[in-house]
Amino acid sequence: MPVHPPIKIAPSILAADFADFGAECRAIEAQGADWVHVDVMDGHFVPNLTFGPAMCAAIRPHIKGVMDVHLMIAPVDPYIEAFAAAGADIITAHLEAGPHIHRTLQAIRGVGCKAGVALNPGTGIEAVAHLLDMIDLICVMTVNPGFGGQKFIHSQVDKTRALRAMIGDRPIHIEIDGGVTVETAPLVAAAGADVLVAGSAVFKGGSAREPAAYGDNIRAIRAAAEAAR
Ligand code: DX5
Ligand code: ZN
Repeated sequence: MPVHPPIKIAPSILAADFADFGAECRAIEAQGADWVHVDVMDGHFVPNLTFGPAMCAAIRPHIKGVMDVHLMIAPVDPYIEAFAAAGADIITAHLEAGPHIHRTLQAIRGVGCKAGVALNPGTGIEAVAHLLDMIDLICVMTVNPGFGGQKFIHSQVDKTRALRAMIGDRPIHIEIDGGVTVETAPLVAAAGADVLVAGSAVFKGGSAREPAAYGDNIRAIRAAAEAAR
């Protein structure tokens, strides 16, 4: 991976029309999304419920590119195979979801997926320092996980910068998740992030039938981020 891989925009379908996920996935990809970010919540690790592997399998045929599955569930390990079978390309588990993140990351790569680890705002980066050779993506949560549309937590910008320094030239993506907008994208891009998840900021003003706003929103976030690097 080059030191500055191109910025990737990963719209979170948490902000899509839940009655029309297939069309929403096709629309965001046609409008320039790089990855499709899928937020799985269990009502236990986080105080909200979304969907599971069956829904991921159902939308898979509607996604040409990368299906990026963010598991906000505990435990994680019993469900890894099911999300892999559902067609996930990347499976990201939370460091805080259990006592054995090393085993979880091994299991994710073991089923042939790229392995991601997500860090809550209160979690330090040193927790992954000794795991870097088994990680493909580190997701820096810039909100407390559970809901879309929350305010960006600015203390995570310095954390992102420190993480980029710790990663060095290893081929690991830094993904930012929560409160990403045209205003906050440049802050994290300048700090070394290369994947930006955005829910509300991508889906606002458009629909699967009238998707032009999705494209405008994606281009605006991408341009703001690229300009800050
Ligand atoms: C939060 C989710 C995020 C969220 C992003 O728990 O992991 O992916 O949906 O939504 P916005 O961009 O609206 O903050
Ligand atoms: Zn997410």
